[in-house]
Amino acid sequence: MSKFQSPTGMGDLFEEDLKYFQKIERVCQEMADFYGFQRIETPILEETGLFVKGTGVTTDVVQKQMFSFRTRGGDQLTLRPEGTPAIVRAYIQHGMQSLPKPVKLWYFGPFFRYERPQAGRYRQFYSFGFESLGGGAPVIDAQIIQIFYNILKTLGIRNLIVEINSIGDSQCRPYFKKSLVSYLRSHRASLCSDCKRRLRENPLRILDCKQEKCQRVVRGAPQILDHLCKDCHDHFKNVLEFLEELELPYSLNPYLVRGLDYYTRTVFEFFKDSNPSTTPASPVPKQHSKDALVGGGRYDGLIKLLGGKETPACGGACGVERVVNLIKSKQKGIGKGLEAKIFLAQVGQLPKRKALKLFEEFRRARIKLAASFDKDSLSTQLKIADKLKIPYTLILGQKEALREEIIIREMASGKQKIVPIKRIVREMKKKIKK
Ligand code: HAM
Repeated sequence: MSKFQSPTGMGDLFEEDLKYFQKIERVCQEMADFYGFQRIETPILEETGLFVKGTGVTTDVVQKQMFSFRTRGGDQLTLRPEGTPAIVRAYIQHGMQSLPKPVKLWYFGPFFRYERPQAGRYRQFYSFGFESLGGGAPVIDAQIIQIFYNILKTLGIRNLIVEINSIGDSQCRPYFKKSLVSYLRSHRASLCSDCKRRLRENPLRILDCKQEKCQRVVRGAPQILDHLCKDCHDHFKNVLEFLEELELPYSLNPYLVRGLDYYTRTVFEFFKDSNPSTTPASPVPKQHSKDALVGGGRYDGLIKLLGGKETPACGGACGVERVVNLIKSKQKGIGKGLEAKIFLAQVGQLPKRKALKLFEEFRRARIKLAASFDKDSLSTQLKIADKLKIPYTLILGQKEALREEIIIREMASGKQKIVPIKRIVREMKKKIKK
């Protein structure tokens, strides 16, 4: 065994998984075309300061999860832990503020977070995101949610639940924060050590702490939905009305605050609902698996914060591996469409040359073939075909090659038939169709 292994939490991806990745990317592209989103690719590396300022200096992502380093030239760079600040950076840098609004962008690619690896949580993971910049209307929030819902549904994921909340804006949130902090201070002793720190730095995050002792305290805490200003309240009400109109199953979660600093007003997360009920919309948080598939929300202050004009925006991102794991666990495979039904076996130099040419003829006819050109023994090649569960093997030996013939072997019965090579593509087309 090699003494080198892939870095912790970063795995190799094989065809078995990549075919799901490709399928997800295709569905995203179709959805993007339909809803008018343009693809964008930003660099894997960005200036560290972009995330410190954009994602937020007190967030776990910035404090604990970034892969950062200094280049030989002295630049401080970070492997992107998320997409949104980079999209905003590109939006400002390329003057997209002057384009008709909203500017709608989407992306698909790898992201990096230094986390404790476990199922559904990796240090390198893939994510796709949809961002709409320049639109403040509640219908945009609903449409972003709808896009993720449609993508996941198209991929065969059922029983989705969208948890949703509003965390207000710079008008109303400070008042809520004050009353929350004063309540939490009086329960400080019952909080976990992380939340004691958060009480100083980012008290809202205490609301979604997963520690049982903190959740007990939070259950008695003031709720942000009771403290929204009129504009935020109306915005949220409108978003929910749109979701109801679209019949998207949502659940209000007053403790959902999200772990990134830029959010204003709407925040949402998608989960697989382990206990689906018959009513689509419900005012109570539900029981579900702990890892969100999608996370997102509105970020009306981020573009200005990063140096642009004041511009409202909304978006979300979805973890690709989490979706793949779900599809696989449901065994809702993508089908065997890509797998070969024919194996091409050859024995000897002349047959090998003819087989190579034949391979191309099958490719032009769009019929997939499997072969092991590096193997000479017929029995080894038949064993491989058997292992791959391929129904037909074409055998090209020295005698057949000289006579311009080829053997078709039905693997299940062992029955064989000889046909002229020039007829083989047509012959196999018929057989596969059957
Ligand atoms: P996020 O919730 O931090 O949001 O990540 C989005 C999604 O990426 C998560 O819901 C999850 O599926 C996946 N994910 C996150 N970390 C990992 C990990 N370590 N391993 C596997 N999957 C992971 C954002 O990144 C925001 N930029 C979303 C957004 C876009 N908000 C507005 N626009």
